[in-house]
Amino acid sequence: MPKGSFHDTLETRGRLRGAQSADEFAGWRDLPPRLHPLEPPAWPLDLARLLHRLRLPHVREAGPAILARAQDEGWDYAQVLKVLLAEEAAGRDRSTRELHRREARLPSGKTFEAWDPKASAIPDEAQWALRSLDWMGRAENLVLVGPSGTGKSHFAEAIAHAAIDRDLRVSWFSLESLTATITRSRIDASTGKVVERIVRSELVVVDDIGLLPAGADEAEALYRLVDAAYEKRSLIVTSNLHPARFDTIFPKGLATAAVDRLLHHAHVIVTEGKSHRLTEAIEGRGVRPLVSAP
Ligand SMILES: Nc1ncnc2c1ncn2[C@@H]1O[C@H](COP(=O)(O)OP(=O)(O)OP(=O)(O)O)[C@@H](O)[C@H]1O
Ligand SMILES: [Mg+2]
Repeated sequence: MPKGSFHDTLETRGRLRGAQSADEFAGWRDLPPRLHPLEPPAWPLDLARLLHRLRLPHVREAGPAILARAQDEGWDYAQVLKVLLAEEAAGRDRSTRELHRREARLPSGKTFEAWDPKASAIPDEAQWALRSLDWMGRAENLVLVGPSGTGKSHFAEAIAHAAIDRDLRVSWFSLESLTATITRSRIDASTGKVVERIVRSELVVVDDIGLLPAGADEAEALYRLVDAAYEKRSLIVTSNLHPARFDTIFPKGLATAAVDRLLHHAHVIVTEGKSHRLTEAIEGRGVRPLVSAP
């Protein structure tokens, strides 16, 4: 493990473990979609108020049905308590994940569900190792390099969704939006705080470096992020250009310093082949056939 990052990576690994135990709680609930054939009796008013006061909304919502089922099946008290609390834990986890997903601002909702591992040039073994997210527990980086349309952004976003599903926080940027965020922070001299806030996320993605022209502001933004995340947080960078050649698009000094830190603990994966976009377009699969209105 990189030096000096003990607490940060410990936190990430703790969250990854926490997500596993949350899945286990969800398993305990083991509730069929329709919990009880009859409408279960509502909570007595005083109990409903107590649950409200103790902020147990998920117990409050699912509790009556759980109790009705417990009565039908003769659960003991410990089992009832366990299932009620598991319901609360699972509900809170769901809410937290939804919040993390909204905050991450992922661009297009692409996940591994729509991902075809065989259609990608990324070796199978690397795909599965990256999908395990273990590398994030070690604050390692992922650099996806390859031509347009070879699945870099899709894979990065699918990893980001998988990270959120495992209770990690993600921030997604294009080089443009990262630069705008950092440049804006200069107005009130809050750059340090802004960067600190960004690297509170366990994973930060910078998508599509190299597509648009980059100058000193872009180089500074990338450097600040990479420096703050170095050996503490994981970054994913996607680019048409190998980072070793970033000095051809960025001003030299900062680019070298940023790339040095980025690559030190990075998995560099090359996506090759033809553009999926172009293949689909040529085969006529990029659009639905036009039909005239009746
Ligand atoms: N292995 C794959 N399985 C399913 N869909 C894929 C795969 N690879 C690419 N695609 C699809 O092909 C299209 C282009 O992929 P993507 O946007 O990820 O390319 P990119 O490498 O980021 O390109 P660019 O450099 O132009 O940004 C997307 O619609 C994506 O969903
Ligand atoms: Mg892309």
